[in-house]
Amino acid sequence: MERTFAIIKPDAVSAGHTGAILQRIEEAGFSLRGMRLVRLTKTDAEGFYAVHRERPFFGSLTTFMSSGPVVVLALEAPDAIARWRTLMGATDPAKADDGTLRREFGTGIEHNATHGSDAPETAAFELGYFFRSVELG
Ligand code: RTP
Ligand code: MG
Repeated sequence: MERTFAIIKPDAVSAGHTGAILQRIEEAGFSLRGMRLVRLTKTDAEGFYAVHRERPFFGSLTTFMSSGPVVVLALEAPDAIARWRTLMGATDPAKADDGTLRREFGTGIEHNATHGSDAPETAAFELGYFFRSVELG
């Protein structure tokens, strides 16, 4: 078993897609181990995405991620990190495969509905950024 960290981003929450995305997560066989609705401050978003601080999109990404509530999730499954990224699809919804969450719910490379950790080290950092170990099921 492996755990990964996921976010339902502000665009998808405000569009009313939270329930549909959670249904897709459960149907895909992930177990929910942590779940919370949170509103990030700009500083919270900058800390979370610190790895991207030199990228040209850092300012707009962290403004977007702090623009409204998000749902933060700890997901568990065999090979959860890779499987969640497959279910999300490519970063740019226009390039994401049919049937992926970003294809269905994303509207642009930044407003792409979901986030997922990209490696075991980032999953550990990101899970710890939002969840205390006693909160995880
Ligand atoms: P994420 O971290 O959110 O799961 O997405 P990812 O691994 O597929 O993409 P990453 O390269 O880590 O980028 C993080 C987020 O930044 C926004 N982005 N904007 N304007 C742009 O060219 C651009 N590139 C990336 C997206 O919201 C992306 O999910
Ligand atoms: Mg990433």
